Amino acid sequence: MAHATRPVRRYAAWLADGVQSAADRAVSNPASLGIGDIIGFGGGQPASESYPLEALSRAYSRAILEDGRAVLPYGPTNGLLALREIVAERLGQRGINVGPENVLILTGSLQGLHLVGRITLDHGDTIATEAPTFMGALAAWEHQQPEYLTIPVDEHGMVVQVLEEALHARGPARRPKFVYLLPTFQNPSGVSMTLHRRQKLLELAEEHDLLIVEDDPYGEFWFDETMGSMPPVKSLPGAEERVIYLGTFSKTLAPGVRLAYAVAPPETINLLARAKRGVDFHSDTLLQQAVVHLIRDKEFDFEAHVVEGRAIYKARRDAMLDSLEAVFSSEAKWTRPEGGFFLWIDLPHGVSGDAVAAAAQAEGVAVLQGSIFYPNHDGGFNGLRLSYSNATPEHIREGIERLHRGVAAVAG
Ligand SMILES: Cc1ncc(COP(=O)(O)O)c(C=O)c1O
Repeated sequence: MAHATRPVRRYAAWLADGVQSAADRAVSNPASLGIGDIIGFGGGQPASESYPLEALSRAYSRAILEDGRAVLPYGPTNGLLALREIVAERLGQRGINVGPENVLILTGSLQGLHLVGRITLDHGDTIATEAPTFMGALAAWEHQQPEYLTIPVDEHGMVVQVLEEALHARGPARRPKFVYLLPTFQNPSGVSMTLHRRQKLLELAEEHDLLIVEDDPYGEFWFDETMGSMPPVKSLPGAEERVIYLGTFSKTLAPGVRLAYAVAPPETINLLARAKRGVDFHSDTLLQQAVVHLIRDKEFDFEAHVVEGRAIYKARRDAMLDSLEAVFSSEAKWTRPEGGFFLWIDLPHGVSGDAVAAAAQAEGVAVLQGSIFYPNHDGGFNGLRLSYSNATPEHIREGIERLHRGVAAVAG
């Protein structure tokens, strides 16, 4: 039977406040991931050749055949104890000293962002974020229609002094519900916050009684030891009670493995777990068990896998910086990330990032326009986010040439 296509407007009367306007604003750019002949600088994908297929296959098989009867029934909302122990132990290596009672296993850290919103936000509350910031987080909180107090980012990360001034000007009654930040190899800019700013942020948080949400999907991919020893905000004195930390296996293992974790005091973990129960009851326990096997697999060294990732992304970062230098010279400025997957490029003033993203797409390279990373739609107009993580150095060189042709087409 043929179904007539109904206009979306038909649903308007049934939708919650803000849902339609959010759908109208949504960015739909499937090619940003790099499909076919398009070179993909758009998505936050790990290097696809690094997925440990054989080790995953062994781990899954063991989870089913050895543990299937234990892990296939409904399981604990907080996640399998063995995986929470592994997470706590690995975080200890980065100075975050917690136990499994501080860990909630999530179906992606995006779920963690959503759950934080569920337990903290009332309709129309304010969230302080960096500008630019990770646009996925905005989707996670859309339902509560928050306002955004945006704080600029420079080459040393969030400009904490601007936050300080805003907090004083707004006073306690208009205090943001939380500060969301990506202090290490930020998405989208690639920059990192200095230790001094991290400490200053915690002082401010103490003074104004702020909750901080630290999102850290890229923190393990540093390119030199100086950044390797940069402490996460969560590990610093004063963070214990007021920082919810989010980490993920999406970048160290694979994003299709939807496993991540929130780290917080046990009372906060209980509140997040309670909210999670109403979303998916618990994250896939078969998968959790498989990841436990994978990390303990004697034939596969997970830590060496992460170290290899650092070398791959460093080589790609270098290729992108060299290509930008060779092709763009003084026409544009870009960040020099010390880790992670992304860099940010500012085109000459007046050259629209939206127009260049479209022109670059026509030239065969996918990039994301900077404007989508600004929660209040008030910046990034001549910016682009480029991801170097899932393109070989050869493709990176070719992709930057294509991008240059896209810029020339727009700038004339
Ligand atoms: C800053 C940031 N937070 C969260 C996520 C979502 O990660 P996950 O796959 O764990 O949901 C991403 C993914 O790109 C990200 O860049």
